[in-house]
Amino acid sequence: MKEQLEAIRALALSAISGAETGSALEAVRVQYLGKKGELTAVLKQMGSLTPQERPVMGQLANEVRSAVETALEAQAARLAEKALAEKLAGETLDVTIPGKKCQVGHKHPMYTVLDEIKEIFINMGFEIMDGPEIEQADYNFTKLNAPENHPSRDWTDTFYLTEDSSILLRSQTSPMQIRAMETYGVPIRMISPGRVYRKDEVDATHSPMFHQIEGLVVDKGITMADLKGTLNAVIREIYGPNTVTRFRPHHFPFTEPSCEVDIQCHKCGGAGCPTCKGEGWIEVLGAGMVHPKVLRGCGIDPEVYSGFAFGMGLERLAMGQFKISDLRLIFENDARFLEQF
Ligand code: DAH
Repeated sequence: MKEQLEAIRALALSAISGAETGSALEAVRVQYLGKKGELTAVLKQMGSLTPQERPVMGQLANEVRSAVETALEAQAARLAEKALAEKLAGETLDVTIPGKKCQVGHKHPMYTVLDEIKEIFINMGFEIMDGPEIEQADYNFTKLNAPENHPSRDWTDTFYLTEDSSILLRSQTSPMQIRAMETYGVPIRMISPGRVYRKDEVDATHSPMFHQIEGLVVDKGITMADLKGTLNAVIREIYGPNTVTRFRPHHFPFTEPSCEVDIQCHKCGGAGCPTCKGEGWIEVLGAGMVHPKVLRGCGIDPEVYSGFAFGMGLERLAMGQFKISDLRLIFENDARFLEQF
């Protein structure tokens, strides 16, 4: 029996160390320690031993059993460790692989300029107003004192949305003057940037859609001096403190008197060059004192209140600031162009 037990120990231990999976290991356990296992079978023969042999064999049998059990446990632990190591190896994250670059956008150059201008006016106490691009002809023309035969009312110039010419895509932001006065009354100090639409063929300086910034100040005692002082301050913020301006008489139906404001060409200093098309001056905005008829139409007494208004083109400003030579580049959204700003 001694030999039998020693043989079982040797075979069991070698089978255990050769078991490479959990189920193989379990099969070994059953083979030796199970109810019908080999060690169990030997123990059942204990009864046939002599009283002297029994305790000796009993001790040896216990030793074999505990050796086999210890080996089973150790191998089970080794297998679990190996399985974990394999799992971790399979999940390895290689942080040295270059990531996928994601394209981050940025502000469009025209909105960079718009935000700068808003900032200038906000600092001067102006409010920013937003208004409809689909507008009534009444607001776009009539309340702005545009005569019935004014060329800009023509179907060839303006996008009308109804047969009776009552609804249109606004051709200027000036209707926001009316909306501001009707909505908020006086005193008022606002700018209103936004899209405007005209039936123009697309070329380097024209687009059927572009942006304007309208401005309006109405209060008691507002004069042409306020208009000049305010616009000069704004222009010098935008173009630099030494910018020379020129206020040139002009006509707009909704202002009287009206003017256009030029800046002296910063490239040639007024001598004339390609930037100013040989003029020495560059037109930057239209302005004027709000026409008494317009004030009265909005329920404001022109004997008590007066005001000034102005309008400028945003694309032209951005083109000047960023030296953009073709208006189309601003709207085409070609990333190669936009990435430069
Ligand atoms: N609305 C005019 C245009 O589109 C620009 C303009 C001129 C606006 C004089 C004004 C102004 O407010 O006072 O040509």
